[in-house]
Amino acid sequence: MTHSIAALLAQAQLPDSDTPRLDAELLLAHVLGKPRSYLLTWPERQLAEPQVARFLTLLARRRQGEPVAYLLGEQGFWSLSLQVSADTLIPRPDTERLVEVALQLGPQHPAQILDLGTGTGAIALALASERAHWQVIGVDRMPGAVALAENNRTRLALANVQFLHSDWFAALGQRQFQLIVANPPYIAADDPHLQQGDVRFEPASALVSGADGLCDIRHIIDSAPSYLQAGGWLLLEHGWQQAEAVRQLLSERGFEAVQSWQDLGGHQRVTGGCWHA
Ligand SMILES: C[S@@+](CC[C@H](N)C(=O)[O-])C[C@H]1O[C@@H](n2cnc3c(N)ncnc32)[C@H](O)[C@@H]1O
Repeated sequence: MTHSIAALLAQAQLPDSDTPRLDAELLLAHVLGKPRSYLLTWPERQLAEPQVARFLTLLARRRQGEPVAYLLGEQGFWSLSLQVSADTLIPRPDTERLVEVALQLGPQHPAQILDLGTGTGAIALALASERAHWQVIGVDRMPGAVALAENNRTRLALANVQFLHSDWFAALGQRQFQLIVANPPYIAADDPHLQQGDVRFEPASALVSGADGLCDIRHIIDSAPSYLQAGGWLLLEHGWQQAEAVRQLLSERGFEAVQSWQDLGGHQRVTGGCWHA
């Protein structure tokens, strides 16, 4: 039996994946420690038995539904390559919209920025990489996520970001921020999507927020004013059907200029308000 790159990719079966060829190429390139372009350049190259065995093992795990990012151990976000783990969510392209809005609305001058539920550190690290004059704090309740974010910070050599273990605002003391961003858990506990696809492998601590999915968002909106300077913004990512509810919660709490922003799919994905009181 031939173990050429072309033959292995042709035989790879991933019937439940939306992107079977891409997944197989990413996994094989990972096993070989090469870029994907190598596979196209050297299709006839024969692989050693241990490489073939490793590829087939990863392929079998992918067939069970394990996300490619967990199998590779990394995921691209913004301009950064981030390590990922089962302690937290795999960063999503939709969340880059939150980064864009934060960069537009955030202060031009040196400022303190807070990222609640930082996970891999994706949002905090993206903001810190774009704004050297911002000091960014990222917090997470999961110690494994805080360690992962710190590891990503070290690999990216970003000095203007710090990660803390905290249950939302609990460990922040008297700190005040000019901008608070969050991509908190926002899925309802009985949402059937939790039993489908890649999210089955991601922790409930990163996904689920009470009966209606808004439990953490309510808490954040209620508490944030104590930590925002006058004129500071709170920006929240949420589910595509939650924008109206989030706008209402912000308005009821006294936020001004409340508005939503669309993601690439045209869904209202980010909602925020400015605190003046
Ligand atoms: C949807 S994930 C977002 C991760 C990351 N910010 C991103 O956008 O990829 C939500 C994160 O919030 C964290 N989290 C959940 N409850 C929390 C709490 N009470 N306090 C702090 N972080 C919490 C989870 O551990 C998880 O890392």
